[in-house]
Amino acid sequence: MIELAFSILAADFAHLAEEIATAERGGGTIVHIDVMDGHFVPNITFGPPVVKAVRAVTTLPLDCHLMIENPDEFIPAFGEAGADMIAVQWEACRHLNRTLQLIADHGMKPAVVINPANPIDFLVEVLPMVHHVLVMSVNPGFGGQKFLPRSVERIAQLRRMRHEMGLNFRIEVDGGVAHDTVASVVEAGADMLVAGSAIFEAGKTEENAREFLRVARAAGDLKA
Ligand code: DX5
Ligand code: ZN
Repeated sequence: MIELAFSILAADFAHLAEEIATAERGGGTIVHIDVMDGHFVPNITFGPPVVKAVRAVTTLPLDCHLMIENPDEFIPAFGEAGADMIAVQWEACRHLNRTLQLIADHGMKPAVVINPANPIDFLVEVLPMVHHVLVMSVNPGFGGQKFLPRSVERIAQLRRMRHEMGLNFRIEVDGGVAHDTVASVVEAGADMLVAGSAIFEAGKTEENAREFLRVARAAGDLKA
């Protein structure tokens, strides 16, 4: 099932509850929350208190993308705050197997994220443990960056690995996914589509989400 995971990084933080409700009216079904610590990435965003506040205003699943050093230290707090899925960066985890297990032990769905510079092959040992793999299609840290075209082949490669291994994890893509790039990632095999700036453009969030999903689903139909 093709889903829009709208990234609140691009939303108006002063009206977060309204922004989330509007993106949901447009068809968004997952709230993507970008957690940045100023160390793993050169930007700082939000942590568990904001996740808790979002949890209080929506029933949609909360997909927390941790761009932080030492994620193990914070996983319990995100669980208590109400996160449903936690994605950790491959590059930030010294003991990735243990970290993914820790996420599952706290009742959340574990996921791994891989940056554009790292081979998809690096994930092979953990694929049986994850709910989804997040393929970064920009270097993490900021919204509004340009989609890196090689991401399409990386998604296709991951889909082939999933088939060969007989697994059924989902494939998420994040960064520069917009009306002009979404068809190519869906055709390659992504079905959890993160989008921030393409959705939260001034005053048109609901229409943006609707149009984004229309294009994505049309590409999905062609693929099927
Ligand atoms: C980037 C974040 C993304 C970001 C995407 O580090 O992980 O989730 O919000 O923003 P857009 O859709 O604007 O590229
Ligand atoms: Zn993200």
